[in-house]
Amino acid sequence: MSLTIDTGRLLGRLRHLGSIGRDGEGRLCRLAASDADKAGRDALVGWIAAAGLEVAVDRIGNVFGIWRGPAASNLAPVMVGSHIDTVIDAGIYDGCYGVLAGLEVIETLKASGRAPDRPLVVAAFTNEEGVRYAPDMLGSLTYVGGLSLDVALATVGVDGSVLGAELARIGYAGTEAPGFIRPHAYVELHIEQGPVLEKEGVAVGAVESVQGISWQRVTIEGVANHAGTTPMRMRCDAGHAAARVVTFLRDLAAANGFGVATVGCMEFAPNAINVIPARATFTVDLRDPDSARLHALEEGLSGCLAELMRVERVKVRVEPLARFEPVAFDRDIVGHVEAAAARHGLPSRRMTSGAGHDAQMMARICPAAMIFVPSIGGISHNPREHTPEADLVAGANILLEVVQRLAAE
Ligand code: GLV
Ligand code: MN
Ligand code: MN
Repeated sequence: MSLTIDTGRLLGRLRHLGSIGRDGEGRLCRLAASDADKAGRDALVGWIAAAGLEVAVDRIGNVFGIWRGPAASNLAPVMVGSHIDTVIDAGIYDGCYGVLAGLEVIETLKASGRAPDRPLVVAAFTNEEGVRYAPDMLGSLTYVGGLSLDVALATVGVDGSVLGAELARIGYAGTEAPGFIRPHAYVELHIEQGPVLEKEGVAVGAVESVQGISWQRVTIEGVANHAGTTPMRMRCDAGHAAARVVTFLRDLAAANGFGVATVGCMEFAPNAINVIPARATFTVDLRDPDSARLHALEEGLSGCLAELMRVERVKVRVEPLARFEPVAFDRDIVGHVEAAAARHGLPSRRMTSGAGHDAQMMARICPAAMIFVPSIGGISHNPREHTPEADLVAGANILLEVVQRLAAE
């Protein structure tokens, strides 16, 4: 009989982790390396240790649970995982599902007496969300050598904190060198965070690629002046210029047909009702599955800013925050996901991830792929994020099967 995960244990842990890091208004907010993140990490490490796995933490705070198996094989391990940091006012599934399902898969195999040939590792990577520290996926990027450890530790957050100091403060500045385990393969189970699977009535996404991401911070400098006395034609209004960028990007991405553009943060200075904004600072998040089209979006933004400098007489400064090309996943693992879904009688489809994931970094050092399960209403980065229990359990059982397959290679 084929093995299945412990549904109650997985769902109970998801709910428990989702209760950690709630603010006074009940909003879930476990930003990377915060006190709330520490509480979440402590719960995870407790479960990893209770399962009889070795706990390891690397110098950028990535947490690992390692099961070497009874034979203590020297073969490269199969790694599963994701992240447990969250956005502001988050749902409980993004990232946490992949980490807890990964632990669940290893515990299930450990208890079954069916030891795989390869060691198994579950990973929870630091600062995947990128809300507090840019770039996003910083922990996995550092793990694969895409960012030097010194630069990563010196990263200054939106609140002025320094990541290395915060990791030390919460007790998660570990001792292992990032990259200390080089996996045979990496598989990440995640909620889709988009509408496709639910809309098409498909239970499983076999994720074959991730779209490219470009993050920038733009500062527009105008001139503060009196809101009542300054004629419209005499204004040098940073707020108005910023608003023009927001609508320009929306139209640009809509015309492209594939890409997406988001201005998620905006601040005015001095931020007063009767003062024309002297400064507007905002973030831009551009994404597209196609590299050339992503470049075109970036060029569109540059052109728009140049035009504003001319027409609105503002000064503009642009700071790159993150830049990742589209990533193609390993075809064999994608095939294993489809085959496992078929064996479970579940419809699957190949798809591109709209969100960024640690798997796209791990793909730089080993074969990697992802499994998606449906998100109701396509809603994520929102407390209403939801995936039915049956889909969560099915996804974890698909992961179990794919891991068994990879561990036997
Ligand atoms: C991570 O959640 C992202 O922004 O894609
Ligand atoms: Mn995620
Ligand atoms: Mn996320």
